[in-house]
Amino acid sequence: MGKSYKIAVLPGDGTGPEVIAEGKKSLLAAADTFGFSLDMTEFDFGGDRYLKTGEILPPSAVGDLKQFDAIYLGAIGHPDVKPGILEKGILLALRFALDQYINLRPVKLYPGVETPLKDKGPKEIDYVVVRENTGGIYTGTGGISMKGTPNETAVQSMVYNRFQVERCLRYAFEYAKTHGKQARGTGRDNTLGLVGKTNVLTYVFDLWERAFHEIGEKEFPDIQRDYYHVDATCMWMVKSPEWFDVLVTTNMFGDIITDLGAITQGGMGIAAGGNINPEGVSMFEPIGGSAPKYTGQGIINPLASIVAGSMMLDTLGERKAAEAIESAVMNVTENKIKSLAAGRMGYSTGEVGDLVAELL
Ligand code: IPM
Ligand code: MN
Repeated sequence: MGKSYKIAVLPGDGTGPEVIAEGKKSLLAAADTFGFSLDMTEFDFGGDRYLKTGEILPPSAVGDLKQFDAIYLGAIGHPDVKPGILEKGILLALRFALDQYINLRPVKLYPGVETPLKDKGPKEIDYVVVRENTGGIYTGTGGISMKGTPNETAVQSMVYNRFQVERCLRYAFEYAKTHGKQARGTGRDNTLGLVGKTNVLTYVFDLWERAFHEIGEKEFPDIQRDYYHVDATCMWMVKSPEWFDVLVTTNMFGDIITDLGAITQGGMGIAAGGNINPEGVSMFEPIGGSAPKYTGQGIINPLASIVAGSMMLDTLGERKAAEAIESAVMNVTENKIKSLAAGRMGYSTGEVGDLVAELL
């Protein structure tokens, strides 16, 4: 028998529990086939718990979650809770407390999936965004003074220190080395592109750019280096996505460009991400949110959550099992489901979960 992994499962709100149930089917099937085991423990963090108890996260939550090898998250967000409370109190709180300083977001068009980009297919749309996940504007200092007066003033700063920048860049270079186009056999080089705004944000991106070239030159001479301004990146993501291999960027820019990336890969039914602490506990999620209007109908697409499970196995070191789940998903997008949209798949949520699990 192979290894055993302890997984904390946070189904969360809305359709989260439905898609997580389907993700578990594939994870357990892959574990069986590839000879490891998954010991899963559920936590009820989310909107319903908050409305019932008034508590967002119990004080023990972070300590408890640190005991696990990984976290598998459904979605956070409840229609009866004011926006921001659960997102900041659960999702961002866990990212920060568990120091998940990388947000890894593949932008990959699977066969059979429609993209709004005319003339682009699975060969062109296949890259990964490494988003810094615990710094920048998300945690920069700020405040509001003279609130409610004509002179009110608000400040929210983009703050990065060398340590935060270096550890993110090292992860990205390493990822380009192991998962770049050359490593995957789909291109001649492994390339890391820095996405910034050196022409305007001349302090923060001066730091990023110098660190990028210094680390690249000294520690990763075999990785090609590119630089793109963030606004231009948005254009190329639509016009020439095939240029990209692995991209690395700040928290805020990464948040924005990965939603653009998600729509080019078919939308929220398929986009998955990992909040990664390479030295600690990482958390994997479909990035589509809780879609409350579809809750309980069995029509939501579980593929994003299944892909998040595959990313979790890859990070745990079970790369073969991870690739098998992704291949099974690609088989289902190519040969089975009619659309990624909720209610238009031609199958129920549970049937799609079964289709993938059966292939494993
Ligand atoms: C994401 C989300 C979060 C973020 C929100 C819900 C706080 O948009 O994971 O991309 O901004 O990081
Ligand atoms: Mn986002």
